[in-house]
Amino acid sequence: MERHREMKNIPIILMGCGGVGRQLLQHIVHCRTLHANMGIHLRVVGVCDSKTVLVTPDVLSTEFDDALLINICKTKSDRLSLEKCVNSGKCEASPYSEFRRKLTDIAARLGFVLVDCSASSETIEVITQTVKLGCCTVLANKKPLTGPMEEFDQLFLQTRRIRHESTVGAGLPVIASLNRIISSGDEVTSIVGSLSGTLGYVMSEVENGKPFSEVVKAAKDLGYTEPDPRDDLSGMDVARKGLILARLLGQRIDMNTIKIESLYPDKMGPGTMTLEDFLANGLPLLDNDIKERVKKASSDGKVLRYVCILQNSTCVIGIHEVPKDSALGRLKGSDNVVEICSRCYEPPNPLVIQGAGAGNDTTAAGVLADIIDLQDQFPFTNTGK
Ligand SMILES: NC(=O)c1ccc[n+]([C@@H]2O[C@H](COP(=O)([O-])OP(=O)(O)OC[C@H]3O[C@@H](n4cnc5c(N)ncnc54)[C@H](OP(=O)(O)O)[C@@H]3O)[C@@H](O)[C@H]2O)c1
Ligand SMILES: *[C@@H]1O[C@H](CO)[C@@H](O)[C@H](O)[C@H]1NC(C)=O
Ligand SMILES: *[C@@H]1O[C@H](CO)[C@@H](O)[C@H](O)[C@H]1NC(C)=O
Repeated sequence: MERHREMKNIPIILMGCGGVGRQLLQHIVHCRTLHANMGIHLRVVGVCDSKTVLVTPDVLSTEFDDALLINICKTKSDRLSLEKCVNSGKCEASPYSEFRRKLTDIAARLGFVLVDCSASSETIEVITQTVKLGCCTVLANKKPLTGPMEEFDQLFLQTRRIRHESTVGAGLPVIASLNRIISSGDEVTSIVGSLSGTLGYVMSEVENGKPFSEVVKAAKDLGYTEPDPRDDLSGMDVARKGLILARLLGQRIDMNTIKIESLYPDKMGPGTMTLEDFLANGLPLLDNDIKERVKKASSDGKVLRYVCILQNSTCVIGIHEVPKDSALGRLKGSDNVVEICSRCYEPPNPLVIQGAGAGNDTTAAGVLADIIDLQDQFPFTNTGK
């Protein structure tokens, strides 16, 4: 029997066309049939990077076709300018400086999902403005959520219009799970999370007696770390994720009130020591301390993990001893693990969420699922609001 079904169009504007943004465009193209069967069509009407904004000539009636989306991915991975994609009148390019005006202009006429796959702290303004005008937003970028508390509050005035699953644990359903627990009145008593694939790997490897410096260098060679591993070792990225979780739990705190244990001392920081000097001469000086701490923990049946701990209305980031036979203690490789304790999930049986916590594919998949999750915000029409 033939089925007639109404379709929903969800207009999308993407900010950031790096590893995650490009993977998102590819997922969108590959999921056309799947989404059509769900009665959904994702209509990309704009894409921008840090220099150029591409939009369709008429956002109400036209969209980027799949050939153009693939062309955008190819152009950016060849490190060329997005302007190269302006052909056959399918899209128009303007400089980034016109970005805010263009987007608020569109938002006044069309409800869309503004997707932030940039790593910029400057996108907060346009996100706040378009959400105010009735648009939705999906973030992989943590920075808009880790600025001043007032900015966070502004974004969450409309909780139905914002999703940000990929900001913590990439595609892992950490935030979705937490929100379900919170909204059911099940009081969360603690969250302990190993939220850095790099530091998860490092801490599980030193457990077997390997020197810290060797393990960090191995992680760098495996491509697990940032180009400068101190960006991982500082704990800042884990702190951003911890702050997002803390705010979801209702803690009204800022980045500067979080206690963060850095795995290198200030005197080995990027401002005072070159990367080469740090790797060759700085790192090995840290081996002994870690070795002693591993030994001490081990004598109590425990292992060290670099975690964020949310408990007693505080957020602490650093090395922590956990039981060897817990989900965190068994962690190997670069997986993320989050243990959530609540009335329903009492210690020592927390809700455990574990899996790959980074990677373009899984991060973009989390973003895509967030976009689909916003479908109820969009009407059954072909164009417009
Ligand atoms: N990769 C992962 O595994 C992962 C996991 C979880 C979360 N995330 C988050 O996802 C985001 C994207 O990560 P990525 O690895 O794809 O980063 P990336 O490769 O560095 O890409 C960043 C993109 O954002 C663009 N951009 C920079 N400033 C911008 C601005 N002001 N407005 C609009 N676009 C701007 C860049 O433009 P140009 O091309 O012109 O430089 C680039 O295209 C980051 O916030 C990251 O923390 C990533
Ligand atoms: C993510 O994409 C970037 C840019 O294409 C690439 O350099 C990087 O290796 C990718 N990361 C992973 C884990 O695939
Ligand atoms: C929270 O309080 C309990 C009980 O006083 C204590 O055992 C625990 O260490 C505290 N946690 C943090 C992270 O301070």
